[in-house]
Amino acid sequence: MANINDNYLKLAGSYLFRETARRRAAFIEAHPEADVISLGIGDVTLPLPQACIQAMHKAVDEMASADTFRGYGPEQGYSFLVDKIIENNYKGLGIESDEVFVSDGAKSDCGNIQEIFSTDNTIAITDPVYPVYLDTNVMAGRTGTLQPDGRYQGVTYLACNAENNFCPELPEKPVDLIYLCCPNNPTGTTLTREQLKKWVDYALEHDSIILFDAAYNAYITEEDVPRTIFEIPEAKNCAIEFRSFSKTAGFTGTRCGYIVLPKTVTGKAADGSRQALNPLWNRRHTTKFNGTAYIIQRGAEAIFTPEGKTQVKEMIGYYMENARIIREGLTAAGVTAFGGINAPYIWLKTPDSMPSWDFFDKLLNDVHIVGTPGAGFGPCGEGYFRLTSFGNREKTIEAVDRIKNSLKF
Ligand code: MLT
Repeated sequence: MANINDNYLKLAGSYLFRETARRRAAFIEAHPEADVISLGIGDVTLPLPQACIQAMHKAVDEMASADTFRGYGPEQGYSFLVDKIIENNYKGLGIESDEVFVSDGAKSDCGNIQEIFSTDNTIAITDPVYPVYLDTNVMAGRTGTLQPDGRYQGVTYLACNAENNFCPELPEKPVDLIYLCCPNNPTGTTLTREQLKKWVDYALEHDSIILFDAAYNAYITEEDVPRTIFEIPEAKNCAIEFRSFSKTAGFTGTRCGYIVLPKTVTGKAADGSRQALNPLWNRRHTTKFNGTAYIIQRGAEAIFTPEGKTQVKEMIGYYMENARIIREGLTAAGVTAFGGINAPYIWLKTPDSMPSWDFFDKLLNDVHIVGTPGAGFGPCGEGYFRLTSFGNREKTIEAVDRIKNSLKF
C-alpha cells in the first residue's frame, strides 16, 4: 500500500473558504427564502473591463485561424505581457524580463514557491494572514503539529492586532522564510515604506527570504505605502513578490498572476554554496506549468492600455466606495473597524469579543450575511471578523443597514 503524506493529517479541518461556503450552503438549503448577502470570500462581482473582453475576443479569433493560432507558449509568459508588467509596475526598478514569471494566479504561486526551499527552513507568518502560506507549509512538513492554542509547532507567528497597530514585530529568533502580505489580507492594513525597510534590513542581516504578497497593491491610496517591495532597493537581494490580476482587474475566474524573482536573490545549498533562486523557480515553472492561456494573457495585457487603465481605475473606485460605506457605516454604529483605506477588506472587532465563528453563525442566522471569521486567518484573528467590499453596491448598503439595525455592538 502506498504511504500517504502524513503532513496532510496535521491540517486543521478544511480550507477556510470551503468551510464558510459549506455553512452558507447549509443555511440556504434550510432557509431557501432567505436573501443571503455574501461579503465573505474576496471574490469580485463586476464584469471584466471592456478592454480585456475586447482583447480576449480578438485572441479567440486568432485561435480560429491556422496562421494566427497559438499552441504552447513560453511557460514564463509571453513577452508582450511581461514587458508591459515591467514598464507599468516596475519602471526604473531594474527588474528584467527573465525575473517575471506569469502564472495562473497568486494563490498557486504562494503555495508552490515553497517547493524550491528545503523542508527544514523555518518560517514566520504574520498572524492573522491569508491561510495559504501556512497550510502549504504544513503540507510540506515544515511545521510540527497543531497545538491547543491554535498554533503549529515550529512556526513563528508575528502578531498583528489593534494593540500594535497591525505592524508585526521583527522575530526574536532568526527565521529563514518570512511571509508578508501588504496590503494585508485579512486586516486591510499596510506597512509604510519605512516599516517595510526594517524587514528588508532584517532579512539581509539574517540571510532570510521575504515572500511578499502584493495581490492587493492596486487598492493602495496612501502615499507612504510602497506599491512593490522593490521600491526598497536592497529588496532585490532578499525578496520574491507575488502579484495578481484577480483583485486588480477582476480575473478571479480567468486566472492570471505573476511572480517577480530577481536573479540576485540567493539561498544556501547543502554543500554550503550560495545559489540563485531564479533558475530553480524557472526549472520548477517550466517543468510543472505549461503557461497561462494565450487568450487570458492578451486580456491581462489590455489592462495596461489607456482604456484598460481607466476601466480598472473605475472598478477599483467602485469597490473602494463600498469599503468606505462599510467602514463608515459600521463605525457610526459603534463598531471598531480597520482597513478599507488601502485594501478592499474591513476588519472589525466582534461585539463583546464574541468568538469569530460564533459571530459568523450569528450574522448568517440573524441577518443573513456571510463574512469570514477572523480566527480562520490565525489565532490573533480571534475576536475579529472580515467583510469584503467586492459586493454589489445595493447589497453592500443593505448589508450595512442590516448589521446596524439588528446587532448591538
Ligand atoms: C480571500 O477571500 O481571502 C481571497 O479571495 C482568497 C483568494 O484570493 O484566494
